[in-house]
Amino acid sequence: MDIGGSGIKGAPVDLDRGDLAQERCKVLTPHPATPDGVADGVKQVIDHFGWTGPVGLTFPGVVTGGAMVRTAANVDKSWIDTDARALFGGRLGGLPVTVVNDADAAGVAEMQFGAGRDRKGTVILLTFGTGIGSAVFVDGVLVPNTELGHLELGGHDAEKKASSKAKEDHGLSWEQWARRVQKYLAHVEMLFSPELFIIGGGVSRKADKFLPHITGVKAEIVPAQLQNNAGIVGAAMRAAQQRP
Ligand code: BGC
Repeated sequence: MDIGGSGIKGAPVDLDRGDLAQERCKVLTPHPATPDGVADGVKQVIDHFGWTGPVGLTFPGVVTGGAMVRTAANVDKSWIDTDARALFGGRLGGLPVTVVNDADAAGVAEMQFGAGRDRKGTVILLTFGTGIGSAVFVDGVLVPNTELGHLELGGHDAEKKASSKAKEDHGLSWEQWARRVQKYLAHVEMLFSPELFIIGGGVSRKADKFLPHITGVKAEIVPAQLQNNAGIVGAAMRAAQQRP
């Protein structure tokens, strides 16, 4: 399942193919997106499929140990220090639950089934949406909860300047936005010298509109391949790994 700012989406996942096994079900994220409200939405999606197996969920903030939410930049602040595994597990009648940062989940799926397949060295997936999410891999192994979207860029939180929400909020053209993304990527490159950047989030479908404007970054830059379903697939992969 993928918990986002606008929708709570989920589907059974075929872990061999890295794809959805059934058409996904989406319910609207309640506003405010409180823990109880979101848990109700998650239950609706699980009930839709009559699912009784392990459940993996993404969350748009730092999540430690598959359970504890530590930050909530773009969701209701009451999430901070919530034991999300206990919350969802309780609401789902005791199903085994694993919770993972949304960008980490997308990255895990992308490294196994998408643009990062068989890529060694340092690979960084960045998702551009309401915020900027990051997933850092070294030889295919994830360094979780890197939160590179909150690096400082020109005196501001980077995601406030360069997320795709910032593009909309400030009415930027693709070229103007690409200039900001370029500055951001150059900063991340200075810190990590990755071999590859994978650009995820909704904008990955529009890569031809902004990637040509990004020059001056040494690393290879490619769009994500799994697009909409990366979070759901990655969450399911994590849930399967956590099974006793
Ligand atoms: C959050 C990250 C999240 C990203 C994308 C950021 O504001 O701090 O944890 O991955 O947004 O949703």
